[in-house]
This record gives sequence, C-alpha cells and structure tokens, in this order.
Amino acid sequence: MASQNIYILGIESSCDDTAAAVLHNGKILSNVVATQEIHQKYGGVVPELASRAHQQNIVPVIHEALSRAGITKNDLSAVAFTRGPGLMGSLLVGTSFAKSLSMGLNIPLLDVNHMQAHILAHFIEEKEFQKPEFPFLALTISGGHTQIVKVSDYFKMEVIGETLDDAVGEAFDKSAKILGLPYPGGPLVDKYAQKGNPEAFPFPKPKVDGLNFSFSGLKTSILYFIQKQIKEDPKFIEENIEDICASIQHTIIGILMDKLKKAVKQTGIRQIAIAGGVSANSGIRQTLKEAEAKYRWKTYIPKFEYTTDNAAMIAIAGHYKFISEDFADMGITAKARIKF
Ligand code: KG4
Ligand code: ZN
Repeated sequence: MASQNIYILGIESSCDDTAAAVLHNGKILSNVVATQEIHQKYGGVVPELASRAHQQNIVPVIHEALSRAGITKNDLSAVAFTRGPGLMGSLLVGTSFAKSLSMGLNIPLLDVNHMQAHILAHFIEEKEFQKPEFPFLALTISGGHTQIVKVSDYFKMEVIGETLDDAVGEAFDKSAKILGLPYPGGPLVDKYAQKGNPEAFPFPKPKVDGLNFSFSGLKTSILYFIQKQIKEDPKFIEENIEDICASIQHTIIGILMDKLKKAVKQTGIRQIAIAGGVSANSGIRQTLKEAEAKYRWKTYIPKFEYTTDNAAMIAIAGHYKFISEDFADMGITAKARIKF
C-alpha cells in the first residue's frame, strides 16, 4: 500500500450540517461545512427539512472540498462517511452518496462513528497542537451527547459516564430558548457570559451517582427562576442577560468538572481531551486550561473548527481505519443509534 500518499474524503451528514473534507496523510487540505440556516426559525432541527437540505447540498459541498484541496476524485484513496449516531434521514444521504462514490471509483468505503470521530479530531496533523497519548479520558459534549470516554486506542473506547437525560448542548440551547435567544443558543450564552458575573444567580447542581450526568433539572430550575423574576420585573431578562448567562454557564461547567475530577480519581488517568460542539465554549476551554496547573492534568483542547460538526474529524477517523484496512462492505446501513 502506498502509505505515503493517503487521500481520504470525509462526508458528514448526521444532523444539520452537510460537510466534506479532504485529508492528505492526516493533514487537512480542505474542510467545507454548509450549515442549514432553515432550522433557526423553528427553534431546533426539523429532521424532514434536514434530510432534504443534505440532498441539495451534498454534491456542491463535496465538489467544493475536492476543488479546494486541489485534487480530483480520481486521486482519492478511500471515502469515509458518518454511519451514525444521528438522524436517520440525514445519515441516509451521506451513506448512500459515500457508497455510490466508493463503488464508482472502485476505492474502499470506511464507516465512521460520529462520536468517536469527535474524539479522533485531536489526531488531525496540526502544527501547534499536540496529540493526546493513550490512554486518555475524553469529555464529549455536544447537542446530542454528554459522555466521559476512556480512550485506550484509536478505536478502543469505553463510555464510563453519560447523561441520563438531556445533553449539555441541549442544556445550553434550552436555557437560551427560555431567555428568548434564537437556536442554537449555546454560542450566544457563551458570548453574554463573558461579560457577566458567574456567581450572580446560583442554580442547584443535580445529585447523580457515579460518573453519569443529568441536565433536565437545571433547565426546569432556570425556567421557574426566570418566571418568578419576570413577575416582579418584566425587564428582568434584558437587564440581567449577561449575569444570567454567566451563572448558567458556571453551573454547567461546575457539573462537568465535578464528574471529570471523579473520573480522574477512579481511573488514575490525568490526560483529558474535550470534544464535540460544546467544547467550543470559551468558559469550558478556560477552565480546562487552568486545570493543568490546578490539578496537574494534561488537557487537550481542539482547534475551534474541529469542535462543532465537521467532516475533517470523519476523514481522520477514516484515515486510521484505512491504515488498518478496516473497510466497510457495500451492505452497510446507516444507524441512528450506535454504541462504541
Ligand atoms: O457537536 P455539535 O456541532 O452537534 C452535535 O453532534 O450535536 O454540537 C452542537 C451543540 C449545540 O447544542 C450548540 O449550542 C453547542 O454545541 N455549542 C455551544 C457553543 N458552540 C456550540 N455551546 C456552548 N458554547 C458554545 N460556544
Ligand atoms: Zn457532533
């Protein structure tokens, strides 16, 4: 095998971003994301609209990724695609396209688990970014998942803690919705939080055993708190938006850090990587950076563009599968739910 010249096309279509990326020997040549704006007015992703938009976007997005990479489809070594987890109608678009392309070009097909890919994004070759050493703990925080994963090798991952209800991203987005902010609210909460007092309004933390999480109670207590305050002062939200957002974010970070500390104690692993859309959060990034000196952890914070859904992470996961010749067969199907 020509191990020096591996060109992988990654295709991601699990939710509301249609994305394609080209990697050459683990280095990014292109990373294209078409974010579907249509969901904003509905306050959340509408699955039926998402799959239709993927259908529209997939050809131009892949075309753009190949053209920005300066290669043609005939240079590709293999095609990697997101098999799941995600929305079935959305996954089907990427899966069918990847199968057809692999068949047409007569090159291997590589199926990728979206959550593993979020973690493997840390292995994309980047000058100023160090790759984690095995074993490490990954905190995967996205709109659909919240997990602590023990990562022993590229594809040897074990979930040791997860949410029992809402994901962290949902906690951000639902809190934002209560405050009247548009979807997805996470980045806006982050923006306002940067100017607010994190201790202005204390919210209770849930009591959950072991390494598992729960976020649905937080959303309810925020709702009751806001309803009560608005009764007394109808302008409460607009006058306090920065402090409210800072307090919500502070509580969420506290919940995540408590469990991470517990996981380090339980496993003896002090290397921590964060992954997933919520790892774009500036407060979480800052807290993890500070944890290096405070708790003597080694922390890995991904480059901003590899945090939210992208295809570069799918391509890097495909790259490692390609090296170990772990190819998918043509009978493979998309799966809305997959375990590691
Ligand atoms: O990984 P991702 O792009 O998609 C899923 O697989 O879910 O994550 C999207 C989630 C959304 O809930 C969004 O609000 C959240 O990531 N998010 C943030 C920030 N940027 C994105 N949450 C908090 N602060 C941010 N800066
Ligand atoms: Zn994701």
